[in-house]
Amino acid sequence: MKRLVGLTIAALILATPVMAQIVPGDHGTYPSVNVTNTPHNLNNYPGVTLPGNQVCLPCHTPHNALLNNSQVLWNHALTGETFAMYTSGTGQPDVPSKLCLSCHDGVTAIDSYGGAAGTAALVLSGGAALGADLTDDHPIGIAYPTALPSEYRDAGTFAPGIGGGPGVQLVSIGGVMRVECTSCHDVHNNGLNHFLRVPLEESYICLQCHIK
Ligand code: HEC
Ligand code: HEC
Ligand code: HEC
Ligand code: HEC
Repeated sequence: MKRLVGLTIAALILATPVMAQIVPGDHGTYPSVNVTNTPHNLNNYPGVTLPGNQVCLPCHTPHNALLNNSQVLWNHALTGETFAMYTSGTGQPDVPSKLCLSCHDGVTAIDSYGGAAGTAALVLSGGAALGADLTDDHPIGIAYPTALPSEYRDAGTFAPGIGGGPGVQLVSIGGVMRVECTSCHDVHNNGLNHFLRVPLEESYICLQCHIK
């Protein structure tokens, strides 16, 4: 009898609709979508044809990479823009963010890889083109505050990301933990749209870092 009551209660709990509220610390699992099925497969972009459907090729190459020792075997032309940064004094974008801006500057041709100049008309536009003015975008290249514990979360508490991979990440540059494009975005995985590492719903991604 006791067992039956227990089962009934369990069934009732299961039947109760789960509230959609997401709070930091919620370790849910999110859908994972391989790079091939994302806008980062340039074969999906009108006007671009990748030889042999090599999805990685516009960004990576096994040999003769355009950047040395950058850990990414980079194959795409780097942006030549001078960027206006959100916070003066942060200099120009660090490499991880510069890689993104090499297509998202709206100037560099997206098919400019492997040393080819690319097609002048194949530049990003609209929301995908951040442009050279980053003063209207979330700051990047900034050190993650350590002296403001009441306003920022401990990086150790960041929730896991899509596919069980890393969630929001700080990037170590010059020995300092920084916020870069790749802190919020996973360039290979679009399971949450916008290539986000954790959901945008309920501003969950913002609340990973900001205590508000
Ligand atoms: C649109 C550009 C783009 C495409 C396409 C792309 N990558 Fe990447 N990849 C990047 C960028 C940018 C980084 C560095 C970002 C980072 O460190 O988070 C990176 C990092 C990596 C890394 C090193 C860091 C890590 O995540 O392990 C590997 C390995 C990698 N990519 C493999 C691949 C493979 C394999 C493919 C094709 C199946 C691919 N990438 C397609 C842009 C791309
Ligand atoms: C080789 C060129 C290339 C590189 C490098 C690249 N992207 Fe993209 N990205 C694209 C293209 C093409 C699209 C699709 C744009 C469109 O449809 O207008 C896109 C779309 C996006 C979108 C919007 C996705 C959506 O669902 O609407 C985000 C977010 C994004 N990229 C972030 C990044 C970040 C962050 C990096 C660096 C880690 C990066 N990209 C590097 C080419 C690139
Ligand atoms: C603090 C987190 C954060 C950082 C850092 C960040 N982004 Fe985003 N980004 C987002 C979120 C959240 C969205 C989705 C909401 C939106 O579209 O505004 C987004 C959207 C985008 C889009 C799609 C915009 C559109 O209108 O289609 C692109 C492209 C993009 N980001 C590129 C970048 C690049 C490149 C960098 C670095 C220069 C960067 N992001 C840095 C959080 C971030
Ligand atoms: C990876 C951690 C991280 C994430 C995720 C993040 N932020 Fe931030 N944010 C920061 C840091 C660090 C600063 C810069 C603080 C400073 O230098 O004063 C900042 C700055 C800001 C500022 C400007 C504050 C100022 O003084 O100029 C606003 C507003 C903001 N973030 C909102 C957001 C929103 C909205 C989201 C979600 C879309 C978000 N942040 C996601 C870490 C993050």
